[in-house]
Amino acid sequence: MAHELLSDPLLKGVPVFDGFKVLKPCVLYELVGRGGMGVVYRGRHLSLDIDVAVKFLLPDLEQKNPRVIARFQREAKIAAHVTHQNLIRVFSIHSRFNVHYIVMEYVWGETAKACVKRRGPLPEREALTILLEAAEGLAAAHVKNIVHRDVKPDNILISAEGDVKVADLGLAKAAGEQDFLTATGAAMGTPNFMPPEQWYDTRSVGPAGDVYALGATLYFLLAGRPAITGSSQAEIMSRICSQPFPDVRREIANVSSDVALLLRRCTQKKPDERIQNGRELAEELLRILGGERERLVQAETGTGSRRFRLQNPPPRETIARIKSALLGTGSPKASEQPLRRYLIKHAQDRSKLPAPLFSAVAASVSARSATRDPIPLWVGILSVITALVVFLLVLGTLFLG
Ligand SMILES: Nc1ncnc2c1ncn2[C@@H]1O[C@H](COP(=O)(O)OP(=O)(O)OP(=O)(O)O)[C@@H](O)[C@H]1O
Ligand SMILES: [Mg+2]
Repeated sequence: MAHELLSDPLLKGVPVFDGFKVLKPCVLYELVGRGGMGVVYRGRHLSLDIDVAVKFLLPDLEQKNPRVIARFQREAKIAAHVTHQNLIRVFSIHSRFNVHYIVMEYVWGETAKACVKRRGPLPEREALTILLEAAEGLAAAHVKNIVHRDVKPDNILISAEGDVKVADLGLAKAAGEQDFLTATGAAMGTPNFMPPEQWYDTRSVGPAGDVYALGATLYFLLAGRPAITGSSQAEIMSRICSQPFPDVRREIANVSSDVALLLRRCTQKKPDERIQNGRELAEELLRILGGERERLVQAETGTGSRRFRLQNPPPRETIARIKSALLGTGSPKASEQPLRRYLIKHAQDRSKLPAPLFSAVAASVSARSATRDPIPLWVGILSVITALVVFLLVLGTLFLG
C-alpha cells in the first residue's frame, strides 16, 4: 500500500487489515491529492465494486470551528440530492474513527487546471465546450437553490472519455462563511476565481457568483493563466474588487467577439448585471457554439501521468476477505469471526476499543488465516458433544454413586 496512507496522521485511528486501511464502505489504497479543505484518497467500494474518491475533511477546520462538521454533513447531503452527468456523484458521508469523510464518484482523468498545464491554452471551441458542460451541471444545482462557491479549474474534472464533471458541490458552502475563510489560509489557496461579493459577504453569493467563477475559469482555459493575479491574497482581493475584469483579447488576439462579450457579461462586478445562472450561461454557450459541442481531447492516460498509474490496488483475495469480515458476505471463515466482531463493535463504540488493539487483532487474524486453515465445523460440534457427555458422566458419578 502507498506509504502516504499508512503514515498519514489524519488516518492514524483507522484500522489496518492485510496492509490496507479499511474504512467502511471502502478499502483505501492511493493518495489522489490534497486541497485546501481536505485530502482525497482513492478507494475500492466494497459493496459496489467500483473505485471511489474519498475526501477527508482536514482536522484543522473542525478544531477551529466545530460547527463545520455539522455544516459539512448537511451540505454534502443536500449536494447528494442533485444528480447530473456533469456533477461528481456523492454516494455517502460518514464520521468514524475520528475522521469525517465523503465517498464520491471517482474520475479517471485530470483537472481542467492540469489539462491546461499539460497542453497550454486550449482552442476556443474546446474551452467553450468544457464550460458548457460545467454550466449545465451547475444549472442542475442552481434550480435547487444550491450554489457551488468554489468553481475553479481545479474543481472541474475531465475524464479519460472526455466527460466533464464539477467536483465539491456544496462543500465550499458547508465549510464557508467568514470564519472558515479567515481561519484557514490554505482554503484560500486559489482565490483568483472568486467573485467580488464573496470577499465581503460570503453568505450573499448566489448563482451569479458561480457564473463569475465560470467566466474567470473560461479566461484561464483560453489564456493559460488566471485573469487576475497578485503576490498575496489581499492583493488579489483588492484587484478583484476594484479593477475591471481584463479583456481576454489583450492576452489572446484571435478570441471571437462573441466570446469576449460573453466574458464581460459573466464577470461584471455587480451580480445582478451578470448572466444570472448556469442555465442562462449554458444557453449562451450553446448559441455561440452553433448548437454543436466540440469533441473534447481525451485526458492524458499515458504512462507519464501519475494519476493514471495504479498504485498497488488491493489484490482480489484481500478485498474478498475484508468483504466477508466487514460485510458478512459469502461465508466468512471461522478465523475471521473475531475481526468481524471487532469491526462491528468498534464501529459502534470506539471508546471501548482502541485502534492499536484493533490493529493487533486484525493483524493476528490475518496472520493466522494466512498460515492455517480454519478448524472444520464438525470438529467443533464433536468437541462440544464429548464435553457434554463427560460432564453428565461426572454428574452421574457424583450423585448416583
Ligand atoms: N472525485 C474525484 N475523482 C478523482 N480525482 C479527484 C476527485 N476529487 C478530487 N480529485 C483530485 O484530488 C485533488 C484534491 O482535491 P481537493 O478537492 O481536495 O482539492 P482542490 O480541488 O485542489 O481544492 P479545494 O479544496 O478548494 O477543492 C484534485 O486536484 C483532484 O486532482
Ligand atoms: Mg476540489
